[in-house]
Amino acid sequence: MTLDQTRDPLLDSKVLRFRVGADCTNVVRYSDLNGFREISVAATCVIGLQWGDEAKGKLVDLLAPRHDIVVRYQGGANAGHTVVSGKEVYKLHHIPSGILSSSIMNVIAPGVVIEPNMLIKEIEGLEARGVQPRKNLMISERAHVVMPWHFVEDRATNRAVIAGESIGTTNRGIGPCYRDKVGRTHAVRITDLYSDDLRTKIKEIVDAKRILLSPLAEPAELETLDADKIYDQCIAWSKSLGSLAADTTNYLLDELDAGKKLLMEGAQGSLLDIDHGTFPFVTSSNASGVGVSGGSGVPARWIDNVIGVAKAYSTRVGGGPFPTELNDATGQKIRDIGREYGTTTGRPRRCGWFDAVAVRYTARLSGIHYLSLMMMDVLSHFDELYVCVAYELHGERITRFPCRAEDLKHCKPVYEKLPGWNQDVSGVRKLEDFPLNARKYIDRISELISVPVGVLSVGPDREQTIFLI
Ligand code: GDP
Ligand code: IMO
Ligand code: MG
Repeated sequence: MTLDQTRDPLLDSKVLRFRVGADCTNVVRYSDLNGFREISVAATCVIGLQWGDEAKGKLVDLLAPRHDIVVRYQGGANAGHTVVSGKEVYKLHHIPSGILSSSIMNVIAPGVVIEPNMLIKEIEGLEARGVQPRKNLMISERAHVVMPWHFVEDRATNRAVIAGESIGTTNRGIGPCYRDKVGRTHAVRITDLYSDDLRTKIKEIVDAKRILLSPLAEPAELETLDADKIYDQCIAWSKSLGSLAADTTNYLLDELDAGKKLLMEGAQGSLLDIDHGTFPFVTSSNASGVGVSGGSGVPARWIDNVIGVAKAYSTRVGGGPFPTELNDATGQKIRDIGREYGTTTGRPRRCGWFDAVAVRYTARLSGIHYLSLMMMDVLSHFDELYVCVAYELHGERITRFPCRAEDLKHCKPVYEKLPGWNQDVSGVRKLEDFPLNARKYIDRISELISVPVGVLSVGPDREQTIFLI
């Protein structure tokens, strides 16, 4: 471990000032390093700043009642967003995390890839628990459909390795569906489920896929691709989803014109962004703030409040470089206390210290106005904590996040040591009630990423949240 000796971590760090008006949906006033600003907000975004699972679902559920519409705009059933309401725990994959607020519309926009079987199961699962998602859910006719052949392709390509490592996808058909969307020839959109030539389209694609996939897939996997059965399945999907399919693009534009407030719910995290993340160990969509406009159809000029969500430490599921990963008892301790197991796949999440180099990069990339720092309670019982403030790459100290996964793999974290607080903070409800060392930890992260902290989370429940706004 390399420690940064250039700074005394016990020095009082400069607390970044931060203020937001009482009605967060109308006016945000904040002051950051660039001075005091006041803006009117039409669309607020919640964006993950790490490798996903930053607790975006919890924050979206909490902010939803201050908005009119919640929008999911990228990713698909690879996402697993947890919302805890009293004793009830909801795990959402496609459906936006505003669904528990019955007066708020929830939109699945064109940039999402929809797996209808799972979406229908999600809807039915909610209905069985007394939620009525069919009353306040819309899905875009433009969204692409994850078809059975995409699962075959995802499993087959997942068996391949890149530079000795597999991407370790969620096996939800995400990459292959986005690949067909960009390729266009073999794509199926929600609107196609209602078209007269659906049977012909399915037959043509299945014939092509059986040839294209035969060198990669097992014969038994190819056998599952039966055009007639898939057509029947599509008809069942179209009947079940029929009333939900709509032109969400024009709907959102109309609602914005009418002064409605939108909450954009990012999936995955900025380091998994297809263009700006740790490629090729990423997902297939723009999971950072840059993806909001393209995926939703909401022009950038409406998007004026971006909240970055990060854990007080780091996690990653699947393959790829992770400089601050702890393959030791400390990593296991974080995993155990934080219950760090995948919401979608159940895989153990890789755990490590907070990486300020990575989060400073993603905070800038996603253009965040303030940080929501989650899981502070998980760090309750540590004598000392480490924050990565730079990397050492081939003997050189760098603070710029590298572009190549291969370089990131060779980056050794340079750590700053901070004292732990050795005190349970899960019951803290006011900033002033945090132990001094916890406040110093928060301040130091804020300072390192040059963004004020607006929300703190000390547990999964709604009330375990401290809004500094
Ligand atoms: P998402 O994909 O970003 O929505 O996050 P996930 O739902 O996959 O993972 C976050 C997990 O942490 C969920 O199980 C949440 O219930 C839980 N959680 C949220 N906030 C906190 C917190 O402050 N402390 C702890 N201990 N757990 C939290
Ligand atoms: P939420 O929205 C964490 C990871 C996978 C894999 C890589 C590519 O819950 O934060 P994919 O199936 O998308 O092709 O897999 O991305 N991944 C996630 N990791 N949280 C997620 O979503 C993820 N969605 C995809 O583990 O490494
Ligand atoms: Mg998740």
